[in-house]
Amino acid sequence: MKLKIRVPATTANLGPGFDCLGLALDWWNTIQVETIERGLEVEVDCPPGVDIPRNRSNLVVYGMDTVYRLAKQKRPPLRIHITTHIPIASGLGSSSAAIVGGLVAANTLLGNLYSRDELVTLATRIEGHPDNVAPALLGGLMVAAMEGKQVTVARFPVPRELRCVLFVPKIALLTKKSRGILPQRIPRADAIYNASRVALWIAALRERRWEWLAAATQDRLHQPYRAKLVPGMYELFDAAKSAGACGAALSGAGPTIIAFAVHHGEPVARALMQAAQRIGLTGSTRIVSVSPRGANVRKM
Ligand code: HSE
Repeated sequence: MKLKIRVPATTANLGPGFDCLGLALDWWNTIQVETIERGLEVEVDCPPGVDIPRNRSNLVVYGMDTVYRLAKQKRPPLRIHITTHIPIASGLGSSSAAIVGGLVAANTLLGNLYSRDELVTLATRIEGHPDNVAPALLGGLMVAAMEGKQVTVARFPVPRELRCVLFVPKIALLTKKSRGILPQRIPRADAIYNASRVALWIAALRERRWEWLAAATQDRLHQPYRAKLVPGMYELFDAAKSAGACGAALSGAGPTIIAFAVHHGEPVARALMQAAQRIGLTGSTRIVSVSPRGANVRKM
């Protein structure tokens, strides 16, 4: 059997929703999985200089093995071809896309033993937090709440006019490092600050009150600490907002900056690039829509 799986890039946190809000983007990796006679062959198309394992430690293979182990079945010999478009270690959910792709591939080969909700819980266990894996699987804007190891997810459709304008700096930042600098405890005032803004995000989405995103994208739980790892973070936020973005935030654990604009993102993209040049930061911009779809699979 041969499958082609597409998995979207995702942006987590959206400012205040640390580890609980995430959005699927219209920017895709593809994974082709074919059952073969023997062995494991992993081929990867990726930009030069990017090192992706070609063995069992590859996250697609790891995801597939996890599902087969859970199902108490032996994984068949496979040829896997991964085409990566999502930049690695950039805060755009590349590792979640790989894990989710592996889970969906294995689940399809097993005749869909597990529901999408079960796959979200499984993917969260592997990734450690649900905010990238949930939208990677289900699309749209996802709210994910953890209770022990159980994850409850709610999906919100996103009005089509919302555009995400990304500035992807040419520096890699590992999530482990970007989480490692966060404090263990936070003041109650900061918890209230963030909880109110997460609720405001959802309200802004429902009411199409895009002007609320200026407040709704503010954060006190992680961005102030991560600013020292992302040169010019606040300057880039300001540049995007001055050019008409409704709000701006660090995408996931960074270093990508995400600005939210309505209908047209070009002036915001230009402003981000100009600000980056002023700061001496190299990188690229990209304007993407929100993807209502998450991972999808086609039998070939
Ligand atoms: N919520 C996670 C973090 C996302 O900010 O560390 C990592 O991709």
